[in-house]
Amino acid sequence: MRPQLADPKIERRIDELLRQMTLAEKIGQLVQYSATEERSAKTSAVNTAALNVNPPAPGGVDSFKLAEAGELGSMLNTVGQEITNHFQHAAVDHTRLHIPLLFGADVIHGFRTIFPVPLGTASSWDPELISALAHMAASEARTAGVNWFYSPMVDVARDPRWGRCTEGAGEDPYLGAAIARAYIRGYQGEDLSAAGSVAASVKHFAAYGAAEAGRDYNTTDMSEIRLRQVYLPPYRAAVEAGAATVMSAFNSLNGIPATANPFLLQTILRSEWGFNGPVVSDYTAVMELVRHGIALNGATAAAKAVTAGVDIDMMSHLYDAELPALVKSGRVPVGTIDEAVRRVLRLKFALGLFTQPFTQGSEVTNAVASHRPLARRAAEESFVLLKNGDAGESPLLPLPKNKKIALIGPLADNANDMVGAWSGANNFGDVVTLRSALMEHAQQNGTTLLYAKGSEISGDSEAGFAEAVSAARAADIAVLALGESSDMSGEAASRAHLDLPGNQQKLLESIAAIGKPVVLLVFSGRPLVLDWEASHVAAIMEVWFPGVETGPAIVETLFGDVSPSGKLTMSFPRAVGQEPLYYSQFPTGRPEQFPDPAHPGFVETKYVSKYLDVPNDALFPFGYGLSYTTFTYSNIKVSATTVSVAMLRRNQKAQPVNASATVTNTGHRRATEVVQCYVRILGASVEQPVRNLKGFMRVTLDPGEAKSIQIPLGFEELSFYGRENRPVVEPADYTVWIGGSSTAQQSAHFKMQ
Ligand code: BGC
Repeated sequence: MRPQLADPKIERRIDELLRQMTLAEKIGQLVQYSATEERSAKTSAVNTAALNVNPPAPGGVDSFKLAEAGELGSMLNTVGQEITNHFQHAAVDHTRLHIPLLFGADVIHGFRTIFPVPLGTASSWDPELISALAHMAASEARTAGVNWFYSPMVDVARDPRWGRCTEGAGEDPYLGAAIARAYIRGYQGEDLSAAGSVAASVKHFAAYGAAEAGRDYNTTDMSEIRLRQVYLPPYRAAVEAGAATVMSAFNSLNGIPATANPFLLQTILRSEWGFNGPVVSDYTAVMELVRHGIALNGATAAAKAVTAGVDIDMMSHLYDAELPALVKSGRVPVGTIDEAVRRVLRLKFALGLFTQPFTQGSEVTNAVASHRPLARRAAEESFVLLKNGDAGESPLLPLPKNKKIALIGPLADNANDMVGAWSGANNFGDVVTLRSALMEHAQQNGTTLLYAKGSEISGDSEAGFAEAVSAARAADIAVLALGESSDMSGEAASRAHLDLPGNQQKLLESIAAIGKPVVLLVFSGRPLVLDWEASHVAAIMEVWFPGVETGPAIVETLFGDVSPSGKLTMSFPRAVGQEPLYYSQFPTGRPEQFPDPAHPGFVETKYVSKYLDVPNDALFPFGYGLSYTTFTYSNIKVSATTVSVAMLRRNQKAQPVNASATVTNTGHRRATEVVQCYVRILGASVEQPVRNLKGFMRVTLDPGEAKSIQIPLGFEELSFYGRENRPVVEPADYTVWIGGSSTAQQSAHFKMQ
């Protein structure tokens, strides 16, 4: 669906409105504020404050008065039927032209029924699941007056120091694009005006995830090939899937802040991709152009942003303050304003707000019981089993149901940290913690659960260690719930150290020293450095921040009611110094694995691309994740040995190669495998990564069952960005791997000629 496509009937109504609007009314459509604190307090909206993640409207701005004057276009994180209807009445009933407001909010991984953080749901590699989750969030939020989500965040992230990697799908553009489409389908449905649909805002355009050194808001600088090949595909996929709006990013790209960047906002977004919905700035990003040093004052900042293509000013208080004079003096053409207003009105019509501006019916104010099964399934699909038993020993998981368990750690009975960053309008009371679910399980199975917190998340107190050690001594198995707090990832939450915070590793060391089997559950919003853990703990499972169904999802997985099927979408490093670390790295002239038999004695092994202290590869690579069963791959084939370059150039829809394989469940349980297909291009005019993901699917198999799978490859998968910064195919050699991670070894070959 492409709701942004102009409908002639609606365009005529917009022309009509534009003819009647004063300049102040026009500019008002481009202005966005949250409610002032005073206004929020005057309504009794449930949990309004929970979504006021950013401060309220700046001093001196009364958003209600602006709405009544017809000089406010949209509101930020103002949530709840009562307060949204209150503002909507001001905009619709009290004004000349009755133009309704948009209510935009940061609903990122659930509105009231919180499901895992996006990096977690991405680990499911399950776009259908993600669409269903997005739709569930939209249907809940719409009952509270929200009609616009600042989601999905599709920024490719290759550096886990950047805390916002938790909000995205990880390091890969191909997977990122598939997931971006899934969100748009789920949020917007077939019809934006339907009861369960909201407009999506794909963010943060563009390359925000490439912040240097993983420090949030930091600058990005990259070649156009890298921009187009790695960073842009998920945004483009979202726009092609019909994303109604786009949010510009905080960062600058190659010296030009994204919020005043005509190359991004006009050349790429509007001209190349044909996007005709509104672009909203990020929070105060228009004002921040002054701090970036490309505007000496607010007037220049506003002029640069609006002429570059930012239609809506989120919270800067600059479009309303500066645009009237800028238009009167001719510095900003009125045509630019008209076009921006047109895009905003188009969205309001598409959402059906002119006919139905108010929200009625019962409002969702807590996690919805009937939505919990989907939230639980999402949590289960997000878990990634990183290790299960030491080499030569039998797997530790799943656990037998009759053993005495010691549950230890600061995240074991901690509702607040289970929801992760940007947890919508959650109520912490809706979270079922691991401790309470394990307790129920122990009661049902007639066993005992011992519990000790052991330590805090941060800090160096060892006061709780002794109790934890004695619990572990008295038990058959120790389950440790360790990791980060919610606020250690998300916005402005970069970390330079990526190990377990505080003295949690020390706690783990003292439990491991007892010699009882240890299961480590890692709660985090990003890849952590788990080097010590991987060599001292028998079983490790990454569980991210799982949301309201944390406890039941983990219990079902620990005891084998479900088998883990998640696969990493970001590489887990051995040491922070490897960052940015990603599987689709480029070759060097001096690879780590030397000497090369083809060039004996060419260089001493010392002069290769490596670290002195750690191997180059990830501790747990992209695409990796274990199961309670085993899968094998055989018959890796491609359907053609040669492909015609000329044919593929002519027919970019063709899929001339089918990559195929047989996947067999060689273990004893029914389980799901995420089959992955990687491609390498050798001999092209531009150096290509050592491999790139170009296909994937989830396959569920019974024990002993085998399935043949096919992955079609066409122009999209086989092309790359050439020297002219456009996708090209050239005569080259192609290698195709199919397997269960980015280190898959079995391959087939063909030539493009
Ligand atoms: C974040 C955005 C968010 C906006 C509105 C900003 O600080 O970068 O992702 O949508 O605030 O709350």
